[in-house]
Amino acid sequence: MLTPVWWEDSQLKLLDQTLLPHEERVLSLTRVEEVAEAIRRLAVRGAPAIGVAAAYGLVLGVRSASSTEALRRRFDEAYKLLLSTRPTAVNLRWALERQRRVLDRALSHLEAQDLPPKVVEALLEEAHKIREEDIQANRRLGAYGAELLPEGARVLTHCNAGALATAGYGTALGVIRAAWERGKLDKVWVDETRPLLQGARLTAWELAKEGIPYEILVDGAAGALMARGLVDAVITGADRVAANGDVANKIGTYALAVLSRRHGIPFYVALPTSTIDSQIPNGDEIPIEERDPEEVLSVAGQRVAPAGASARNYAFDVTPHELVTALITEVGVLRPPFPPSIEKALAHPEAVHRHGPESS
Ligand code: MRU
Repeated sequence: MLTPVWWEDSQLKLLDQTLLPHEERVLSLTRVEEVAEAIRRLAVRGAPAIGVAAAYGLVLGVRSASSTEALRRRFDEAYKLLLSTRPTAVNLRWALERQRRVLDRALSHLEAQDLPPKVVEALLEEAHKIREEDIQANRRLGAYGAELLPEGARVLTHCNAGALATAGYGTALGVIRAAWERGKLDKVWVDETRPLLQGARLTAWELAKEGIPYEILVDGAAGALMARGLVDAVITGADRVAANGDVANKIGTYALAVLSRRHGIPFYVALPTSTIDSQIPNGDEIPIEERDPEEVLSVAGQRVAPAGASARNYAFDVTPHELVTALITEVGVLRPPFPPSIEKALAHPEAVHRHGPESS
């Protein structure tokens, strides 16, 4: 199974996504600073994959601590560093918090002399769980999502919400994979996703590997295809979903939701419940990452805009919940009104959101 993040030989392995599809290079990381840098430069990307990488990053950050005091200090430093890498995907904070609860529990249960090695062991075990549970959640939500699609579905997706963006299988691409496995899918329309081309580079690469038929579109083409009756559903992933169902995802997602409404096409968002931020009431409070304008002024590293040109580079946008047909999660398909359906999903015993040690 395709996975972009795993643990091997006491190192964190990442498939460097900046080099795909031309080169499949695996990075071997041994220091938390390297993990932070890999997240920042999008060597690992996609909300759930960032969370998994950060959970392992904490292990690397604390593993050489030889006293309880050093352990606490290193944990806090690593936590802060990792949290500062990217602001929008809430899975990052969620995974770090889950690891903090592991640390707190160890500090209150274990004898001081056992602490550092036992804590490192417990954090590593939890990182493995976070990774494994994400794959299971994606398989479950994929099955729920596939049920929603008509036979012979032509599905449009944006960015990469695939195996590469998660621990494996994918969210939006998880639904697409499941529909393909059930013989329900005709083809996938892949938005190229400027400026960094996650669609043209990564989604296309994943689909090609599985033999799933697809065609790449420029981001502005979706409306024209919908007007011609060529799109049956739009499915995207999410970086953070607020308590009212507002969705932050890759820039351009909002425009797709508006177009879907105009053309009477269902607009689905696929996500594990670890992407839900119940602490914020609506999308206005979701921090939106702004990246280097140079990414917009260039294409694949080649400058295209004139010298002195300026650019705005919001990496994400917010789609208001009114435009979302349903949220597809590992505990079922959530329909409007979203506040109660989200609350119910988060309380579900199998929701990944609830996993990990209880807070003390
Ligand atoms: O900037 P990226 O490539 O990390 O953005 C990724 C997305 O917007 C994905 O759609 C989202 O993280 C969901 S991934 C399952």
